[in-house]
Amino acid sequence: MYTRKAILPDAENIRALIADLSGDGTLLPRSLAEICENIRDFTVVVQGDDMLGCGALHLYGTHLAEIRSIAVWSRYKGTGAGRLLMDALLEEAENHHVQCVCLFTRIPEFFAHMGFAEAKREDLPDKIYKDCASCPRLHECDEVAMYRGELPHFAILPRPAKLQVRLERPQVKVNK
Ligand SMILES: CC(C)(COP(=O)(O)OP(=O)(O)OC[C@H]1O[C@@H](n2cnc3c(N)ncnc32)[C@H](O)[C@@H]1OP(=O)(O)O)[C@@H](O)C(=O)NCCC(=O)NCCS
Repeated sequence: MYTRKAILPDAENIRALIADLSGDGTLLPRSLAEICENIRDFTVVVQGDDMLGCGALHLYGTHLAEIRSIAVWSRYKGTGAGRLLMDALLEEAENHHVQCVCLFTRIPEFFAHMGFAEAKREDLPDKIYKDCASCPRLHECDEVAMYRGELPHFAILPRPAKLQVRLERPQVKVNK
């Protein structure tokens, strides 16, 4: 069993695995087109001809990267595939001199086991601006934000207009 960077022929297997786990909301669904476009983010864990699992590292900058879409087919769970993926993604982040790796999850125990600690959402503005602003569950998110390393002190992405409208206090109208 070993990990390698994904290549385009892996995209359909990655799509199928993510689709298998997105029906119940465990993972966010991702289209084949989106996976192909971001294939260089993905690492796969393989054994012979079988792809056991996948995970992606999205780079924001040296201040932040995010682990996304990490999954192992249920029949291979508990075989060490998940840890191999985590090690590979964290090594990739280190090679890019990334200071903080974050993720949003519903299984914080697994990632705590991998050295991650709980964060406040506001500590990860790039992640919020990229994904959360357009998420229908923005104000009722049940995922735990986690990080490893040094929390970023700034965001590289602009704050989306939708987030300003929804989060900023409305102006009080004064009638004269
Ligand atoms: C999370 C997941 C990738 C782990 O893969 P895995 O191959 O089963 O994990 P491993 O066998 O490599 O386990 C590595 C370690 O984590 C521990 N572990 C595994 N799942 C765990 C969990 N849910 N909670 C706490 N610890 C867990 C194992 O006991 C093992 O510990 P050890 O190395 O000290 O013995 C896999 O369970 C999965 O695909 N889950 C569904 C998708 C998902 O929820 N992904 C996260 C989205 S944010």
